[in-house]
Amino acid sequence: MMAAQMEQSAGNFSAGPSRIPDAVRALVAQDLLDLDGSGIGCLEHSHRGEVFDEVLNQTERLVRSVLDVPDAFEVLFLQGGATQQFSMIPMNFGTDTPSVHTNTGIWTAKAIRAAQQFGPTKIIFDGSDNKFRTLPEPTNLLIPQDASFLHTCANNTVMGTQWPSLPHAPKEIPHLCDMSSEITSRRIEWGDLDMVYAGCQKNLGVAGTVLVIIKKELLAKSNAPTPFNYQEHADASSRLNTPPTFGIAVMRRMLEWVQTQGGVKGMAEASQRRSKMIYDAIDATNGFWRPHASPKCRSVMNITWHGPTSNAELDFLQKASEIGFSGLKGHRSLGGLRASVYNAADEVACRKLAELIQSSASDSK
Ligand SMILES: Cc1ncc(COP(=O)(O)O)c(C=O)c1O
Repeated sequence: MMAAQMEQSAGNFSAGPSRIPDAVRALVAQDLLDLDGSGIGCLEHSHRGEVFDEVLNQTERLVRSVLDVPDAFEVLFLQGGATQQFSMIPMNFGTDTPSVHTNTGIWTAKAIRAAQQFGPTKIIFDGSDNKFRTLPEPTNLLIPQDASFLHTCANNTVMGTQWPSLPHAPKEIPHLCDMSSEITSRRIEWGDLDMVYAGCQKNLGVAGTVLVIIKKELLAKSNAPTPFNYQEHADASSRLNTPPTFGIAVMRRMLEWVQTQGGVKGMAEASQRRSKMIYDAIDATNGFWRPHASPKCRSVMNITWHGPTSNAELDFLQKASEIGFSGLKGHRSLGGLRASVYNAADEVACRKLAELIQSSASDSK
């Protein structure tokens, strides 16, 4: 029974919520019963008590050290998922001049629709004509000098594209970036960013919990009512109301685990290795399986591809499920197939997936 469960976990390619490393699962199970030797489980601790104080402080220290966060930034632990950020950002930082967006997938489209409720917007790149297969050259983007802010998404979970490097906004324009599906998997170039946020259900643990890292200069401009005001959350040390305590406790374990695996550098190397195995397998089928993303912007976190027919895709999913894989069906808006290989992805399972990709193409010839 136990062995079968572990197998199922290793073969979980879900886009999020997604696989948690085995070592973290074991620690979280322990935390649920007894947090840090307190005799009280982590769901049962007051968010203002000493034990949780220490969890929160440790988690912040880990965020700062794992992600190399400069002192000029504040770290916030919020709730409401990444989607809530789509509205909180224009609520706080929108002005009479347009907020500027690159539309690179369904999540940015949602962020744009949210921003349109609060003020003018300008789309400087729209990938929808090309089914979001490509991303622009950052240097080709024309960012208006009077923009209220620039919003981007570093890794497009649904489409399987990832910016090799993010656009640079002019210094006076805040650049805010959704890193939900890549946080902790590659180095963040802080010099070009004013705020980074991530829903935690991929590389940091629990859905609904959000990590926000925001420059103090931008934070001071927060201009939204409670409980949507970033400065108020910072003033209350992320305890304006009851924070997502379980999500924060799991984030701590996820970050500790990243540290033991060589930090962000180790994560980046592992994800390059795993995704290369899978892309190489797709490419080796000589067009039977076709990657969705154009080669220059293939994501190392979410690999999307199509087959010659929907039957071929269904047949693949059937074979995959027989060997214990799950989560490989493409998002409903794109169809096809998708393997999400976040930090916790199992390398052996990725190799087996690559083999299945190749063998399923040869079987069909
Ligand atoms: C890149 C990206 N942004 C935003 C979201 C929305 O996150 P949430 O469901 O936490 O609101 C997702 C969800 O998977 C995502 O992948």
